[in-house]
Amino acid sequence: MLKKSLFAVLAIASLAACQSEQEIKRDQYFVEGMALYNVHCANCHQTDGAGLKALYPPIAKSDYLLKNKESVICSMRYGQADTIVVNGRTYHQPMPGNAQIQPMDIAEITTYIYNKWGNEKTLTATADVKRILERCAAKRAR
Ligand code: HEC
Repeated sequence: MLKKSLFAVLAIASLAACQSEQEIKRDQYFVEGMALYNVHCANCHQTDGAGLKALYPPIAKSDYLLKNKESVICSMRYGQADTIVVNGRTYHQPMPGNAQIQPMDIAEITTYIYNKWGNEKTLTATADVKRILERCAAKRAR
């Protein structure tokens, strides 16, 4: 219900602003992505993306986010357990994967975090996420 009315508001606002179809789709992904982020990610990375102390790295203003888009996309499905450095600080807690999360969900979450906290202004397409997931599945099978 809430989602539907959000879309309606967005659609009207978009028409009023004469946005292109691509921009409207980006906004839809962004809104959906925000809702999914709050369900799947915010309990660790926090709603504002600030992370939690030494446990969970920040996503907002993260240099790692900007440099590692493919592995960020893969980690939403498969998790990750490397030692990583985010803004000069080392993290080595494992991030759990989510076998249920669909490529479109990942595309929407990716659009949200990279538009909100990265420097992107376009959507991440579901087809691209599918391709990236296949690539990392193949790597993992090796
Ligand atoms: C149970 C807690 C937890 C959940 C839930 C979780 N993460 Fe993570 N995330 C982590 C941890 C811990 C790391 C560091 C992993 C490492 O050290 O390799 C991490 C790393 C990351 C990174 C790379 C480092 C950075 O901050 O830029 C990104 C981006 C990220 N997570 C995004 C997400 C997204 C998007 C979701 C939801 C789909 C999510 N995470 C869900 C705990 C979590």
